[in-house]
Order: sequence, then C-alpha cells, then structure tokens
Amino acid sequence: MQELALKIKEAVALVRLAQDLKVIESLKTEYLGKTGVLTKAMQQLSSYSPEEKKQAGQKLNLLKQDLITEIENKTAALKHEATNLALAAERIDVTIPARELSRGGVHLLSAAMDEISDIFKVLGFGVEFGPEIEDEFHNFTSLNIPEHHPARQMHDTFYLDDTRLLRTHTSTVQVRAMNNKKPPFRFISLGRVYRCDSDRTHTPMFHQVEGVYVDKGVNMAHLKGILTCFLKMFFVQDIQIRLRPSFFPFTEPSAEVDISTDNGNTWLEILGCGMVHPNVLKNLGIDHRIYSGFAFGMGIERLTMLKYGISDLRQMYEGDIRWLKQHGKPW
Ligand code: PHE
Repeated sequence: MQELALKIKEAVALVRLAQDLKVIESLKTEYLGKTGVLTKAMQQLSSYSPEEKKQAGQKLNLLKQDLITEIENKTAALKHEATNLALAAERIDVTIPARELSRGGVHLLSAAMDEISDIFKVLGFGVEFGPEIEDEFHNFTSLNIPEHHPARQMHDTFYLDDTRLLRTHTSTVQVRAMNNKKPPFRFISLGRVYRCDSDRTHTPMFHQVEGVYVDKGVNMAHLKGILTCFLKMFFVQDIQIRLRPSFFPFTEPSAEVDISTDNGNTWLEILGCGMVHPNVLKNLGIDHRIYSGFAFGMGIERLTMLKYGISDLRQMYEGDIRWLKQHGKPW
C-alpha cells in the first residue's frame, strides 16, 4: 500500500508539472483506465479480509480522489491557458489604418451612353427603352420590312424560335414608343442590339442609339441641324458632316452620314437616318399628311472608338483589367 501511495503521489506531481493535455490524458489512462494502476489495486481488494478491505479501500479512494482532483484542476488550467493564447494570437488591432479601397471606373461605353443621353436631353429629347427580345412585327414588319423582303436577310438575325428574335437594331423602339404617344414628340433610345457577325469592327452584340422627332413640318434640314449639333458636342470638335443618299425601308428619303475632322479630306461613315416612311407613321395611326418626322440610328461603339482612339472593338468586351484601368472614367 505504501508503495502504491508513493506512486500515486508521484503521479499527482507529474500531473501538476504537465504542460500538455496529452500528458494528462496518458497519465489518466495509466492510473484510472480499465487496466490502470488504481483500478487494478481496487480489484485486488476482493482478496482482503473485510477489515483490511475497509481500511485499504478508504485509503485507495482518498488517493484516487487526490489524483482525480489534480487532473481536473490541471486540465481546466491548461484549457484556460490555451484559450488565452488563442485570443492573444487572434487579437484584432482596430487602430491599424484601413486598407485603401480600390475604386473601379465607368466603362467607356457606359460613359459614352451617359454623354449621348445628356446631349440629347439638352436638345429636348426624352429617353425611351425597349426589350432586347423582340418579335418579327416590331423588328421588321412595322418598320415597313414585309416578309420575304431582302432587308430581312441583310440583318443577320439571331432567332430564338419561330417568332422571337434578338433585336437587330434599336429602330424597334421607334414603333414601341410612338405607339402610345401623340405627336409632337422627340426621344432617343439606347441599348444593346444583336447581329450574327464578328471581326475587328463587328461584335455579335453592340449598342445603338436611335432618335426620332415627329411634329408638323419636320424636314431633313432639322435632321441635319440636330445631328451636326450632337456630333460637335459629342466630339468637342468643329467637325464637318455630309449626307449621302442611302436606303432604309423605314425612312424615305434615307441618308448615310459621314463625318470629317480634317476639312473634308477623309470621311468616315457614322450613322443612318432619314424621314420616317409614311407607311411607318400609318402603322402607328399618325396622319402622315399632317405630321412628318425624322429618325436616325448610330452605333455607339463606333462613336466611342473614334472619340477615344480605340482601334479594336473587341477590346471593349475582353474585361482586361489593364485596359479597363487605362480607359475607365472616374465616377
Ligand atoms: N436601324 C438602322 C440600322 O440599324 C439605322 C437607322 C435608324 C436608319 C433610323 C434610319 C433611321 O442600320
């Protein structure tokens, strides 16, 4: 018994010295486990006489209790220490200055669309929007492009099913917006359009701005005046414009507009326009003998590339962070 008592005292001392929960765990198994020193000693009591059993049993129990208490205390102390260490390691210093927020910029195309809207607002135009998924009626038929008309093939249309398509131009909004308006009115519409086409100067998705002005006595001179004014404001330059006769089923007469920044030495085609075709006005219930109107449509990428000297259209959609940083406009 004395030997055992010494051993237990030693174990208590070891527990007290332990710096690691694992050490305590193994001491616990060694002494209190199923085949542990104390457990075995308890089992041996059965061979003792009742009187011896009582005395030895009490002693063993006291020793056991000492060991258990020491184990419990030390375990709690070590756990507490571990928590404190973890808290110290994870401490957040709220007084450290914050990391600088990296700021994005406005994409050139978005900036251009904002500028275009702002200029036309100054010129008295409202802004309308229309859906990108369209039907043949709004994309073609109502714009005086009947079924089997060759112009339908010219549009490289993406069809979604037999009747629905991705709009090939923003002229669809002419019809949608004029439908619930009484003249006089003038508005522009900006947005995405889609054509099955892709190279250095074409992407399957691009942006257009459409403009319409309907009133009594509107003529080509008004159209040229508004376009000249807009283009000068947009390019912030004294540019020349020229109108070349052209064809669009929904305008008559129609024209293509070229601009020059070098006094007419070189010309660049930039938009299509014309007087709204009487059939389009008729389709909308507007009396073409009383009212007339002009319409124009231009590619926003084209305008943006010219204004900012971008040579490859596809760069605009690559999302290259270096390009975006170089060309992003501040908020
Ligand atoms: N919708 C024509 C196009 O996409 C442009 C246009 C608009 C021409 C309005 C005349 C009038 O090419």
